[in-house]
Amino acid sequence: MATLELIKLSKRYGKNIWGAKNVNLKVNEGEFIVFLGPSGCGKTTTLRMIAGLEEVTEGQVIIDGNDVTYLEPRKREVSMVFQSYAVWPHMTVYENIAFPLRLKKEPKENIDTVVREVAAMVKIEEYLERYPRQLSGGQRQRVALARALAVKPKIFLMDEPLSNLDAKLRVKMRTELKAIHSKTGATTIFVTHDQSEALSMADRIVVMRNGHIEQVGTPDEVYFDSENVFVAGFIGTPPTNFFKMNIKHENNQLKVFNENLEFALPNKIKNLLNNYNKNQVILGIRPESFEIVENRENSYFTEKILVVEPQGSHQIVALEIGDQIVKIVAPSFPKYKANDVINISFDEDRIMLFDIETEKRIRG
Ligand SMILES: Nc1ncnc2c1ncn2[C@@H]1O[C@H](COP(=O)(O)OP(=O)(O)O)[C@@H](O)[C@H]1O
Ligand SMILES: [Mg+2]
Repeated sequence: MATLELIKLSKRYGKNIWGAKNVNLKVNEGEFIVFLGPSGCGKTTTLRMIAGLEEVTEGQVIIDGNDVTYLEPRKREVSMVFQSYAVWPHMTVYENIAFPLRLKKEPKENIDTVVREVAAMVKIEEYLERYPRQLSGGQRQRVALARALAVKPKIFLMDEPLSNLDAKLRVKMRTELKAIHSKTGATTIFVTHDQSEALSMADRIVVMRNGHIEQVGTPDEVYFDSENVFVAGFIGTPPTNFFKMNIKHENNQLKVFNENLEFALPNKIKNLLNNYNKNQVILGIRPESFEIVENRENSYFTEKILVVEPQGSHQIVALEIGDQIVKIVAPSFPKYKANDVINISFDEDRIMLFDIETEKRIRG
């Protein structure tokens, strides 16, 4: 177990492509950190710099207080698991797990104990004598995990380790990995582009875009308290609904309006704009922050339903407002259907306001 610190960590490929730029992060001992972001945002690059597999252009990697920026990979005491299982095909499962321990010249009895211990942890004890070709993809990934766990690394690095598994197994493995983490307590950096995976596994999520960090926070913080339009839009399914609105003062009220909508902002939110002097603002409302209400008087606007997508546990109600599709998550009952006209309100505490130019959260 160890702490990790990244200081202004940057990687430039060729002349002008920054794989990662000015990444600053402090990871606590035993934390489960998830790097989350779209393809090409710099997750792998950053992870490989931590592992020592990628040369650093600028900045530092500090493990347990020691600068390891220029230390070779095997001396960093980190383990990495990749998306492609990368187990050795000519070795049995047992040998795959034991091999790194043999390299470290561990005593034979110790090796046997550790192999059986980690095999049990990832549930592959029955397959120790098999070869990788005799295993399913999911089982091979478990072997890769066991091998990485066996060396008891200071930091456990995982680059989209579940991406090659089918959807059902992926969700199952999330739970198992989380359980393994709570047993071993190993400091972990887990990379994924899947926001639901990130929300369900992380102690803290690092949201990345274009090589830099957009927000670091607990799942609740990045979800309910998104720092900017990108984070609010990337996290959550269906994603946050955004409304670009004009602002006007009328009859002592602060109103927002566009071609299709107009309503007075509730007092709680109105005050956030006291120091905001632009004449447009972006409203972010998550699908479940809307509420469908009986009375028109209690609503902010009224609209006809475009389609309803039943999900069993809830229903997604889609509206077409201007050229924008707006999605509302409603309880399973009452059932709605296309062309129903509904009155829509929202939870005033859950509205997010963003600067029209910088797209940053307006916090008053
Ligand atoms: N070896 C390389 N040479 C040039 N550009 C690279 C190389 N590796 C990655 N990149 C670029 O760096 C950026 C970040 O890539 P990467 O870290 O692989 O993203 P992610 O893992 O988030 O998908 C991308 O724009 C990618 O094209
Ligand atoms: Mg990657």
